[in-house]
Amino acid sequence: MDATLINLMKDPAGIPFYPIVFQGLYILTWALHAAFVLLSLGSMGLSVYGSTKQKRDNNWKILTPHLIMTGKLSVSLLIVLGVAPLLFTQVIYDSGWYVANTLSGAWVFIFIYALVLGYMMFYWYQYANKQGKSSNTLIGAISFAILVFCGILMHNFAVESIQPTKWMEWYAPNGVVDNSGWNFHIDIVRLAFMVSLAIPVTGIFLQAYSTFASTRNDFKVDYLEFVTKMGTKMAVGGLLVSAALFVLWMLQAGELFSPVVLATIASVVILLLMAMKNKNSYATVGMLVVVALFISGVRELIRYNIMSKLGYDLYGYKVNIEYETIIMFLSTFVVLGFTGIAFILTMAWQVGKNDSGKPYVATEGSAVSKLGNASLIIFCVWIAVYFAWGMVALFKNML
Ligand code: HEM
Repeated sequence: MDATLINLMKDPAGIPFYPIVFQGLYILTWALHAAFVLLSLGSMGLSVYGSTKQKRDNNWKILTPHLIMTGKLSVSLLIVLGVAPLLFTQVIYDSGWYVANTLSGAWVFIFIYALVLGYMMFYWYQYANKQGKSSNTLIGAISFAILVFCGILMHNFAVESIQPTKWMEWYAPNGVVDNSGWNFHIDIVRLAFMVSLAIPVTGIFLQAYSTFASTRNDFKVDYLEFVTKMGTKMAVGGLLVSAALFVLWMLQAGELFSPVVLATIASVVILLLMAMKNKNSYATVGMLVVVALFISGVRELIRYNIMSKLGYDLYGYKVNIEYETIIMFLSTFVVLGFTGIAFILTMAWQVGKNDSGKPYVATEGSAVSKLGNASLIIFCVWIAVYFAWGMVALFKNML
C-alpha cells in the first residue's frame, strides 16, 4: 500500500507535544477505560444471574443489589474514562479513527443512542430490583445486552481503524462508493478475548469486596465465604479462558514472541497464582492493574506495528509545541485530577466502612475533610484560570 495517503491525512497543523507522550497517555488511559468496561459488564451480567436466585437464596439477596450498584457506577466511570483515550487516538492516529467513523458513521450514531438507552435501562433495572418486581431480570438482561452491543461497536471502530489496506475496498466495494456508514467488521478472537476478561476482573473484584466487607459487623462470615469462593472460581476459571484466547489472538497477530507479549503472559501467570491463593486481595487488584497496562500496551504494539509497516510515521508526526496547552493539561490532570480522585476514593472508602447505620459525616480536620476542602479550592482556581487563559488566547490577536 502507498503510505502517502495515510501520512497526508495527518493534521497539517501538527500536534502540540511529542507523539510518544500521547502514545504513553493513550496506553495508560485505555487501561483505565477497559478496567471499568470489564467490571461493569461482569458485575451486571452476574447481577442478572443473581436476580433469578435472590428470592430463594439469602446470599444472592445481599450480593445482587451490590453488584447492580457496582455495575451502575462502573458504567459512568467507563464513559468518563473513555474520553481520554479517544482524544489521544484522535491526536496521533487521527487518520485511522476518522476513517473508521466515516465507514461506520451509522453505527457511530447508533452507539450514542444505544449507550443512553442501555444506561437508562440500568437505572430502571435497579429500581425494579429494589421494588421486587418480577420484570427485573428481563430489564437487566436487555440493558446488559445493549451495553455489550456498545462494546462490539467500539471493537468494530477499533479494528477498522487499523486496517488501512482494506479501507478502499470497504469504502467503494467493486468500485461503487458506499457512503451508507453501515460498514461492520469484527475480529472474533480479539473480541472474545476482550469480553472474556470481564469474568476474571469481576472475580478479583469480588475477592477484594469480601476483604473490604470483612471488617464490618453487618456481614456474616457465611456470606463473605460465599463471595470469596465465587470470586476465586471466576478469577481462576476466567483467567484460564482469557489466557487461551490471548494466545490465539497473539498467534493471529503474529506477535506471540514479542517481549511485551511475553511480559504480559508472565504477569497473567503471577495474577493467576495470586488469585488462586487469595492471600492479599488488594495486592491482587494491584497486579490486575499491571496486567491491564500490559494488555493496553499490546493493543498499541499491534496498531503501531501494523501502521509503521504500512509506512505511517508516528514519531515523525509534525510537532508544533504549545507549552500553554501542555501546562494546562498536565496541571489539570495531576493537580486537580489527583486531588479530586483522592478525595472521592477516601470518602467512598470511609462510607463503605461505616456500619453505624447512620449516614457517614467526615469529622473536621480528618483526611477526607482536608481533601474535600483542597479539591474545592483547586477546582475554583482551575475554573478562574481556565476561563481567563481562554479569554487571553481568544482575544490576544485582536487587542
Ligand atoms: C458500554 C459502553 C462501552 C463498552 C462496553 C466499551 C468497550 C470497549 C472495548 C471492548 C474496546 C476495545 C475494542 C478492541 O480493542 O477491540 C473499547 C475501546 C475503546 N473505547 Fe470503549 N466502550 C464503551 C464506551 C465507550 C465510550 C463512551 C467511549 C468514549 C467516550 C469509549 C472510548 C473507547 C476508545 C477511545 C477505545 C479505543 C479505540 C482505539 O483507539 O482503538 N468507549 N471500548
